[in-house]
Amino acid sequence: MPRISVAKTLPDFPWDSLASAKEKAAAHPDGIVNLSVGTPVDPVAPVIQEALSSVAAVPGYPTTHGTDALREATAASLGRRYGMTGVDPAAILPVIGTKEAIAWLPSLLGLGADDLVVIPEVAYPTYEVGALLAGARVLRADGTAQLGPEKPALIFVNSPSNPTGKVLGVEHLRKVVEFARERGAIVASDECYLGLTWEAEAVSILDPRVCGGDHTGLIAIHSLSKTSNLASYRAGFLAGDPALIAELLEVRKHAGMMMPTPIQAAMAAALTDDDQEKAQRERYRERREVLLAAVRAAGFTVDDSEAGLYLWATRGEECRATVDWFAERGILVAPGDFYGPRGQKHVRIALTASDERIEAAAARLS
Ligand SMILES: Cc1ncc(COP(=O)(O)O)c(C=O)c1O
Repeated sequence: MPRISVAKTLPDFPWDSLASAKEKAAAHPDGIVNLSVGTPVDPVAPVIQEALSSVAAVPGYPTTHGTDALREATAASLGRRYGMTGVDPAAILPVIGTKEAIAWLPSLLGLGADDLVVIPEVAYPTYEVGALLAGARVLRADGTAQLGPEKPALIFVNSPSNPTGKVLGVEHLRKVVEFARERGAIVASDECYLGLTWEAEAVSILDPRVCGGDHTGLIAIHSLSKTSNLASYRAGFLAGDPALIAELLEVRKHAGMMMPTPIQAAMAAALTDDDQEKAQRERYRERREVLLAAVRAAGFTVDDSEAGLYLWATRGEECRATVDWFAERGILVAPGDFYGPRGQKHVRIALTASDERIEAAAARLS
């Protein structure tokens, strides 16, 4: 049997298709304003950098489960920041950024060709990639009513959403949990923007109002990339069902998927210090206000976008035409079709640029 290339089973890397728009935007005399990716631009807080360097001389292997201090700091932060009480520190698992955790989750859970993975209609592309890596079937659906008699093995939800910024309410999430429990599905709730809300309260899948205090079958996915500017460090964690976390820990131990010691220390510091997290949220709040007003004044409708780091904007035309329109003004935005067919008439505009670049974008839109 000839070898099957895994790379060939995956979609084209979406950002490759933006090359010509990027070139056009870069030709602007005052330089490009790149709002196409959600990468942080503000420096890592000193308290986090110091924690990182405090263990820079430690030579031994880290543990896959993370230090007790890290898991205790994580559980405490979930209670303090989001009212997620009752998370046992043992049921927390550090991951090397959540992208890898999402991409490998279906595989590590043992899913395969007979299994169905449900992802949002308009979604962060890695959910689909994860399902494809496991060889599982993928279905895009935003509500349980769309699933008919299907019995999914895994349901991804993402609130606040990338790319739309939509927040799912307690009722919606509770229905997903009830449906999953009836049909034997696991729910993986990507909550990487939970700390970045503007116009709506976002709740975790582990919130007692959603799950009734029972974490069975539920995995919350949290990243520090956006809330603490730690995208470069690669820091996130899974929390939830103790049995599932123990199972994933076992596999990740065998596979060497362990967070480096300096990152564990940095992550514990970030989860202990709420001031740097609040300060970052306020930076994004201000940038959002400037950009939202400018995008609306330029004639766009901004849908959802109640939370998270993006404006989900449309003026009813195909997204690639809108991408071109922005590129002519030296601004690069992401086409909605990156995130699924239902995103075809929207673009995603990131708030992750310096104040100076956000002001430049607003001036160019006026
Ligand atoms: C919805 C969502 N999940 C997960 C990630 C991955 O974040 P990281 O791998 O930096 O933790 C991102 C990054 O943009 C995201 O938007």
